[in-house]
Amino acid sequence: MEHKIIVVGIGPGSPDYMLPVASRMIAQAKVIVGSQRALTTFAPSHATSKVIDNDLTGVLDFITKALMDNDVVVMVSGDPGFYSFLATLRTRFSSEYITVIPGISSMQLAFARISEIWQNAVLISMHGRQAKDTDLNYCPDKKLGILTDYEQNPLYIAKVLRKHGWPSNANVWLCANLSYENERIKQLTLGEINDVDGFTHCVMVVTT
Ligand SMILES: C[S@@+](CC[C@H](N)C(=O)[O-])C[C@H]1O[C@@H](n2cnc3c(N)ncnc32)[C@H](O)[C@@H]1O
Repeated sequence: MEHKIIVVGIGPGSPDYMLPVASRMIAQAKVIVGSQRALTTFAPSHATSKVIDNDLTGVLDFITKALMDNDVVVMVSGDPGFYSFLATLRTRFSSEYITVIPGISSMQLAFARISEIWQNAVLISMHGRQAKDTDLNYCPDKKLGILTDYEQNPLYIAKVLRKHGWPSNANVWLCANLSYENERIKQLTLGEINDVDGFTHCVMVVTT
């Protein structure tokens, strides 16, 4: 296989938060793969495109075939190394066939927005996956950064954290639509979370 897969982190959503090299790779793509939203926003009109849908084998098959003639650009949100389609790609393609262009993770931007340090935080995804008890368990001075989803939303996660010993007065920031014009950041305590209006898919930061 002479062609490569270029996995491009497109950042949290706004083009302002995308690296110039990422924009360049996308603009030059002859074959491009990504979420419907990423394709609509960024894919060049001349490129052949494929949506990443629930049929992941179908997407991998499409890429395998396209690689016979062209490089394939795969757009993923945030950074490719942090809970993205890169993990699925690595189930079929070894690293020598993949070039990764990093992006700004929604996690990074959330910590930046609230001026908090993340080098000592436990970073978890509860977007379609279970978190480990050891990550969720409370201990003094622990800091969590959590990717949430529709079901494992901040209200659900607040209950889970209370069961893992977190106090109701722990500080919480809910960060939604980061980098977009409708970005929303809400600061409250764990005990004060009583609805998830507009904050299902977000970054939840918890500190004591
Ligand atoms: C499949 S994960 C992708 C994470 C991505 N690789 C990253 O580095 O940000 C999707 C989750 O990331 C978070 N997310 C992605 N973009 C976001 C944004 N613009 N604002 C807030 N959260 C976002 C949400 O928790 C969402 O459910």
